Amino acid sequence: MTLTRRRVIQTAATASLASLLPRAVFSQGAGNRKAVIHADQEIGVIRPELHSHFAEHLGSCVYGGIWVGKNSPVPNINGIRRAAVDHLKELGVPVLRWPGGCFADDYHWRDGIGPAAKRPKSVNTNWGGYVEDNSFGTHEFIEFCRLIGAEPYFAANVGSGSPQAMRDWMEYCNQPSGSSLAEERAANGSPEPFKVRYWGVGNELWGCGGNFTAQRTAEEYRHFATFARAFGGLRPFLVGCGPNGNNVQWTRGFMDTLAGYRMDGYSMHFYSNGTLPPLEYTPEAMYAQLNSFPRVEQAIIQQRNLLDGYDPNRRIGLFLDEWGVWDRMSAEDEKRNGRLWQQESMRSAVAAGLGLNIFNRQADKLYMCNIAQMVNVLQAVLITDGPEGRNCVRTTSYYAFMLFKPHRAKTSVRSETDAASTSPADKLPDLSMSASRQGGELVVTLVNPRHDADMQVDCEIRGATPRQGRAEILHDPDINAYNSFDNPNRVVIRPHPVAVENGRIRLALPAMSVATVTLQVT
Ligand code: AHR
Repeated sequence: MTLTRRRVIQTAATASLASLLPRAVFSQGAGNRKAVIHADQEIGVIRPELHSHFAEHLGSCVYGGIWVGKNSPVPNINGIRRAAVDHLKELGVPVLRWPGGCFADDYHWRDGIGPAAKRPKSVNTNWGGYVEDNSFGTHEFIEFCRLIGAEPYFAANVGSGSPQAMRDWMEYCNQPSGSSLAEERAANGSPEPFKVRYWGVGNELWGCGGNFTAQRTAEEYRHFATFARAFGGLRPFLVGCGPNGNNVQWTRGFMDTLAGYRMDGYSMHFYSNGTLPPLEYTPEAMYAQLNSFPRVEQAIIQQRNLLDGYDPNRRIGLFLDEWGVWDRMSAEDEKRNGRLWQQESMRSAVAAGLGLNIFNRQADKLYMCNIAQMVNVLQAVLITDGPEGRNCVRTTSYYAFMLFKPHRAKTSVRSETDAASTSPADKLPDLSMSASRQGGELVVTLVNPRHDADMQVDCEIRGATPRQGRAEILHDPDINAYNSFDNPNRVVIRPHPVAVENGRIRLALPAMSVATVTLQVT
């Protein structure tokens, strides 16, 4: 069914909702939007893995972000920042990808094991040429994953590594005992195997990972995968290197050459680039950036469709293992806090909401998505400040992810809106929505990406009857509003009124907001 766009007549029901809501919301000439949720039309289970993260040895993501060192004045657990652990545990991180990114194809895992003082020092040539002392290696990463409850996902080195190095890393991590590598792991303090299941076979092999062609990448994949065997009974889940954005030729070239060879996952990357420093966005620059999200959705549909041609039973999972907003960096921020340090704003939270709504709507096509990156770099959920980095602030993106947490493991259901484009030239709808259901609970998330238009949403629920509900919202009218070290709670989740009556929900959705409604349904 397609809804026709028309102004909603002010009914007694909306009038009663209006009386529940702050006056300001209605004083700016609100637009009205209609929506329908088909609670009985299932799309697929929303894998918690769609809310996964990525941490690279880049800028202050690891050093100064996650890792402060055992002798740091910053409260830590064996060198791992305690505040980050607390916040990330609360958020829930299903899977964490590491150690890169571009860094992965220049990383030699043996450099990061054994007594810290004896580990070699190398130069991180990808990200500014700083000296990498390898104090954060495999054991430290696994400890961090265990502390926050995340499953590890390693990106193995293809570009400057070897099949043997990857296979040995697997044995070191997963062989329970008996072999020299398992004994070395035990001697380094971890008798229990790490049980690392997810392995990326290189990163961005079309670029920083080796500048390979798609055909050569598939050949490299086949070579590396041949030696990626099970250790401790754990068969590695192998992820091949997919395209930059929606590069159709890449996928055809790769899949033709793969010729049916075993592969468990296929990873694409899609960044939403912006032209201004994080806190200086104009509405025009914001829309130019947010307009990439319809293309993200298109890419997921098209890449899955291409894979289906080779893999009709969907044995290969589609990964979007790097995504998020990539603004123009501020030289001053980078100087102080490291490469790609990016503050998050209300605009970033809206971007996160648009992305996560897409993942819900395309839940049947996606296996895992990893926001880039976890701390300090690009669209981070936590930021720290300065070389000592005593502060640890939850960004607007952290709270946007929080609003989507109730969707995890629920079944995505179909929804539609009468949203219009934000401008005649744009494809970005002015209302983004997704819904999921499990038993008697229906969760709806709505995003208003407009900087200048509050709206009232009137949403009919079909296929279930809503009985009661509650809503929460992340909102600031200023597109550049952010959580600073001085004011860490400027943009946080707050309760929000929602009216549930006659099989519908009605709520106000102010300009620049992300809202989640949780309904009890029968
Ligand atoms: O996330 C930053 C970089 O972006 C990664 O290292 C690389 O994979 C991508 O190009």
